[in-house]
Amino acid sequence: NRSIAFHGAHQPGILNPPPAAGMVAAFDVLATSRKELERLFRLLTERAAFLMAGGTPPAEDPRFPPADSGILGPLILPDALTLTVAVGAALFDDRYGLAAHKPRHLTRMARFPNDALDRDWCHGDLLLQICANTPATTLHALRDVIKATPDLLRLRWKMEGFLPPALGEAKRETPRNLLGFKDGTANPDPADAALMRELVWTTPGAGEPGWAAGGSYQVVRIIRNLVERWDRTPLREQERIMGRLRDSGAPLDGEHEHDEPDFARDPEGARTPLDAHIRLANPRTAETAGSRILRRPFNYSRGITRSGQLDMGLLFICFQADLEAGFIAVQRRLNGEPLEEYIKPTGGGYYFALPGVPTEGGYLAQGLL
Ligand code: HEM
Repeated sequence: NRSIAFHGAHQPGILNPPPAAGMVAAFDVLATSRKELERLFRLLTERAAFLMAGGTPPAEDPRFPPADSGILGPLILPDALTLTVAVGAALFDDRYGLAAHKPRHLTRMARFPNDALDRDWCHGDLLLQICANTPATTLHALRDVIKATPDLLRLRWKMEGFLPPALGEAKRETPRNLLGFKDGTANPDPADAALMRELVWTTPGAGEPGWAAGGSYQVVRIIRNLVERWDRTPLREQERIMGRLRDSGAPLDGEHEHDEPDFARDPEGARTPLDAHIRLANPRTAETAGSRILRRPFNYSRGITRSGQLDMGLLFICFQADLEAGFIAVQRRLNGEPLEEYIKPTGGGYYFALPGVPTEGGYLAQGLL
C-alpha cells in the first residue's frame, strides 16, 4: 500500500508506471471569477495531496452528511493513487482573462478522418486523471473531489480503464491491449530524465508561457476496438497490421520483444509492411525522432452497443512536450493505416497537464493565476 509523492517539479501520474485502474473525468468549470478559479485549484491541490497520502477523514457528526463517502472504510489507504490535473483550451477563452497565458499548442481537439466523435464524450475545461491499484480507490477519489467542488465543477464525461495488476515490485510484463498485443514496448524510458525533458516536459522558450514549464500536453482518445471483427482476422494479418508478433511482442524482423526493428534495412517493407502501425507511428528516421510520445493508455469496456457488439477498446492517453510535434504529427502519419478497419475513435480531448507543486503551501496552476 505504497503512497506516491504529490509534491514535485512535475505532477504524478505521468512518468510512474500505470497501475491496474485508471480513470479520466472531464469537467466544465463553473467558477465565476479568477478568485473562484484560484479557490478551485487550491481545493484540488488539497484534496489530491490528502487522498494520495491517505489518512483518516475528520470525525463524523451524525447530524451532518459524512465528510467522506466511506466506500474505503474509515481509514483511507493510498493504494498507489495519483491525481493529475490538466486544463483544456476552453479555460483560456475570455471568461477569466487568461487568453494571453494559454499554452502555445493547446487547441480544441479536431476531428481526424477515421473519427466518429460523440460530442458528449469530448473536450472539457478541466481533466482529472485518477489512477490507483483498485477501481474503488479511483471512484473514492472522484467522489471526494465532486463533493468538495459542487459550485466549481460540473462533470462532463468520464471513462474508466484497466490494466493487468502489477504484482509486487517485480517489473511486470508489458500489458496487453484488447487486440491481444503488448502495448507500450517501444515507449521512451521514463527513467531517462534527459529524454523526458526533451519529449515530455514543456520548457520555457519556444513560445510557451513561463508558467507552463514542467507541464505536459496530454491527449486522451477513446478508441473503440471492433473486437468481433479482429477476432475473425488471421493472426498473420493482425501481425502485419501492427508490425509486431502478437505473442512475444517482437518486431517482424526481430526475435525478442525489445529488439529494435531496422526499417532502413527493409526499405520495400518486405519484413515490416510500410503501412504497419509501428512503422507509421515511428518510422525511426532523423526527421521523426522529435515526434516520439509517452503513451500511458488503459483498456476499457463499457457494456454493449445497440447492435449487440462489445463496446470496448483503448483509453489512449499520451504526454508530450509539444502537441503539434507529438500526437498530432503521429496521428497524421497513422491516418489511413490498415488498423483503422478495426478501430473507431469516439471521444477525448486535448489538455495541458499542469506543472507540479514543488512544495507544501503551493497549489496547482499557481503560476498561471
Ligand atoms: C505502438 C496498438 C493507437 C501511437 C503500438 C503497438 C501496439 C499498438 C500493439 C506496439 C507495441 C508498442 O510499442 O507499444 C495500438 C492500438 C491502438 C493504437 C490497438 C488503437 C486502439 C495509437 C494512437 C497513437 C499510437 C492513436 C498515436 C497517435 C503509437 C506509437 C507506438 C505505438 C508512437 C510506438 C511505435 C514504435 O516506436 O515502435 N500501438 N495503438 N497508437 N503506437 Fe499504437
